[in-house]
Amino acid sequence: MEARNWWKEAVVYQIYPRSFMDSNGDGIGDLKGIISKLDYLKDLGVDVIWLSPVYQSPNDDNGYDISDYYSIMGEFGTMEDFDALLDGAHKRGIKIVMDLVVNHTSDRHKWFIESRKSKDNPYRDYYIWREGKDGKEPNNWGSRFRGSAWEYDEETDMYYLHSYSKKQPDLNWENVKVREDIYQMMDWWCQKGIDGFRMDVISMISKDQSFPDGEVKGLYGDFSPYIMNGPKVHDYLKEMNHKVLSRYDLMTVGETIGVTTGEAKKYASCKGDELNMIFQFEHVWLSEGKLGKWTDKKVDLIELKNVMSKWQTELKGKAWNSLYWDNHDQPRAVSRFGNDSTKYRNLSAKMLATCLHMMKGTPYIYQGEELGMTNVRFEKLEDYKDIDTLNTYEEYVSNGLVTKEEMMRYIHCKSRDNARTPMQWNDNSNAGFTAGIPWIKINPNYIDINAEAQVNDPDSVYSYYKKLISLRKQYDIIVYGNYQLLEKDHEKLFIYSRTLGNEKLLILCNFTEDIVDYGPEKEWESATVLIDNYSGVERKSNQLLPYEARVLYSYS
Ligand code: GLC
Ligand code: CA
Repeated sequence: MEARNWWKEAVVYQIYPRSFMDSNGDGIGDLKGIISKLDYLKDLGVDVIWLSPVYQSPNDDNGYDISDYYSIMGEFGTMEDFDALLDGAHKRGIKIVMDLVVNHTSDRHKWFIESRKSKDNPYRDYYIWREGKDGKEPNNWGSRFRGSAWEYDEETDMYYLHSYSKKQPDLNWENVKVREDIYQMMDWWCQKGIDGFRMDVISMISKDQSFPDGEVKGLYGDFSPYIMNGPKVHDYLKEMNHKVLSRYDLMTVGETIGVTTGEAKKYASCKGDELNMIFQFEHVWLSEGKLGKWTDKKVDLIELKNVMSKWQTELKGKAWNSLYWDNHDQPRAVSRFGNDSTKYRNLSAKMLATCLHMMKGTPYIYQGEELGMTNVRFEKLEDYKDIDTLNTYEEYVSNGLVTKEEMMRYIHCKSRDNARTPMQWNDNSNAGFTAGIPWIKINPNYIDINAEAQVNDPDSVYSYYKKLISLRKQYDIIVYGNYQLLEKDHEKLFIYSRTLGNEKLLILCNFTEDIVDYGPEKEWESATVLIDNYSGVERKSNQLLPYEARVLYSYS
């Protein structure tokens, strides 16, 4: 068995503060709101909260554009509130992992305000400035939020790079002063007692310094090969590890967009010289089409099994996995991988949870996932708030890449706002999220799907998650057992086993609404059922009912 670590045994719960709980009726979730729900999280049993950014920000990208790393966003509260949150969480045995957004800052950050003033400003090289080419951008790169990745700045007649919105200029990690300032800031938060970092697009911090044109996809060139997993990214992370991370007992997870399993073995190596684990994107990029993520294509189960299993087996003994179906950038898990109809919503939400939590790695729950919250369908574009959704609609529709109707369909499947409608606490007005007008509309299904209805119901999705989390605390095999995919060509079932010493688990998941015949091998006849989502329902042992999940345990 590999080395024990608390972060391998933990379950992480992601909070998107803007949409979690509003304490003062301004329609925006805040820190006091989170504090008021700590007992809820304690009851659920999670070990770690990953807090999406709470730093001062003009909110061009909801906090992922930071203007001061040392202060709290006014709308969310104060530093005293933060300290109270940290303290309240710690008292309940819950750790707090902060989002660390250091690929870019806000254009309102003092470094950038200085940087753009003149070519010889001491902060000039904190960002990536280039001369134009023949009166145009330095190269053809498109930003991930549409438009060119370069913005012209009149002041000095040069362009700056922004991989995301033009209000999110990319920091220049080549500059040692930038790195030192970032490490100092990280250290300041560690001194405060936080328990780790989730590092935003950390795979993008090192850019190919020749800045070549990218292959044109859609309207712009693709920067991925020159920015993702760039030439010095591992040097920088080793340096960060040496200067900050290794000096504290932290949990670190990198959002490594574009990562391969080969790269992951460096980022999240068991050697511990960079990060503890990373988020890979292969399973959430599976259904991509010619317009990238903007499609309504469903993911193919065989491909999904392939990708998940590849990460399970290739990282074995070399690096640690993180496990997720959704987060604040992805559609709701049950709508995407399961079935969000009234009939199958709860069953498929539980099935997906089983499938993920029984794999090897640290599982992440995104707020509301534990209730089976679903995608939302706003009919009007104005009801969407996400910069990615709005910019993409504008660029694709006005350039005739899609019709308005098509784009709305894609938005219903893929918009990040699917995950950002407020938490559904109860069936009172505004789902108990706010006494005011919520910053984004509530999903109308809060009447049926809400926490209050689920916490005391033993058959709820919530209670099922609670049980999964507690099983993890009882069985080492769930954390440390070896993974093996079975029936890899089965089109309806996802079946795998875990092994640790004399113990064995068999995980059976039906990803369809069909009844599927499947009888496990004889050796499982006397096994015990650890958890299943049809308990109390009479059924045959050689059949799986629609969206059934069953976990068998045997000891020899
Ligand atoms: C990450 C965040 C996303 C944000 C982007 C730019 O992907 O998860 O929400 O928009 O980085 O910071
Ligand atoms: Ca508020």
